[in-house]
Amino acid sequence: MNGQDSLKTPILVLGATSLIGGFLLDRLRALDLAPIAVSRRPPGADLGWLDADLSDPDLVDGLPPVGTVFSLSPIWLLPQALPALKARGMSRLVAFSSTSRFSKTASPVAAERAVALALADAEAAIAAWCGDNGVAWTILRPTLIYAEGRDGNVSRLAALIRRLRVLPLSGPGAGLRQPVHADDLAAGAILAASAAIAEDCAYDLVGGETLTYRAMAERVFEGLGRRPRIVSLPPALFALALRLAAPFLPGATSAMGDRMAKDLTFDDAAARRDFGWSPRDFHPRF
Ligand SMILES: NC(=O)c1ccc[n+]([C@@H]2O[C@H](COP(=O)([O-])OP(=O)(O)OC[C@H]3O[C@@H](n4cnc5c(N)ncnc54)[C@H](OP(=O)(O)O)[C@@H]3O)[C@@H](O)[C@H]2O)c1
Repeated sequence: MNGQDSLKTPILVLGATSLIGGFLLDRLRALDLAPIAVSRRPPGADLGWLDADLSDPDLVDGLPPVGTVFSLSPIWLLPQALPALKARGMSRLVAFSSTSRFSKTASPVAAERAVALALADAEAAIAAWCGDNGVAWTILRPTLIYAEGRDGNVSRLAALIRRLRVLPLSGPGAGLRQPVHADDLAAGAILAASAAIAEDCAYDLVGGETLTYRAMAERVFEGLGRRPRIVSLPPALFALALRLAAPFLPGATSAMGDRMAKDLTFDDAAARRDFGWSPRDFHPRF
């Protein structure tokens, strides 16, 4: 995937410290587009960074003129910031949501159902507001995002494998996954922002391969230079082990074991057709 040079400038990147943010800034800078990066805790004194909080009612006062906005921050923070961004000139918006808006609607964990609802509500609010105010929008919904050593999904699995040397799964781990690299998402966002056909549309963005949870774990072993050592536990035993280990595994939920048996797959055909989305296969290297 190559960058495009038809973006409306200046460019603002919300959530620039996110997993995708660093890759997106690098790609935009490589195109000589001088993005302005937003964070509540800007790293260093780099002139390209802006200290701003999307929930600040006076946000507009600190914003520079802007043409295209990339939003990598939680999408539910965006609706309240839209008037300020438009007041500074925003005419094009590419905002990241998540396929969790679909996959977590029936989760047994209430907090996950709340996230699914918040994602869906924010998407609807953005489409409606932008439609009423002449801003061309595109919503991108990634599946599970990884960036070696930095994410809370694949890299977390790698850290667990390093610690335990053997990976326990709930049952055979037959549920399908489509891990997508953060740098591919950065490239995809630039392509989407440059494609007129992608205006006022939402796309599911998945990785280049669909593989079982077990196969995904085997690739993580390979990425660590280790021979896969995976043990399938009966789901009830896995659930018990997870409950006992929960204090040492921040973010672990009771739904994790059950989910290993479930397919979490989506179709990226529309993104491939409309803006040339072509993500890499899953071969992480740690
Ligand atoms: N991680 C995944 O597997 C996954 C999967 C699907 C979709 N997504 C979506 O993809 C996007 C990027 O995900 P990620 O995991 O890379 O994000 P992340 O690491 O959690 O980063 C979130 C970003 O939002 C910014 N942010 C949070 N609150 C803010 C506020 N009040 N004002 C301004 N900025 C604020 C943070 O900036 P500062 O802290 O620097 O201010 C940070 O850069 C998000 O929209 C996420 O929902 C993630």
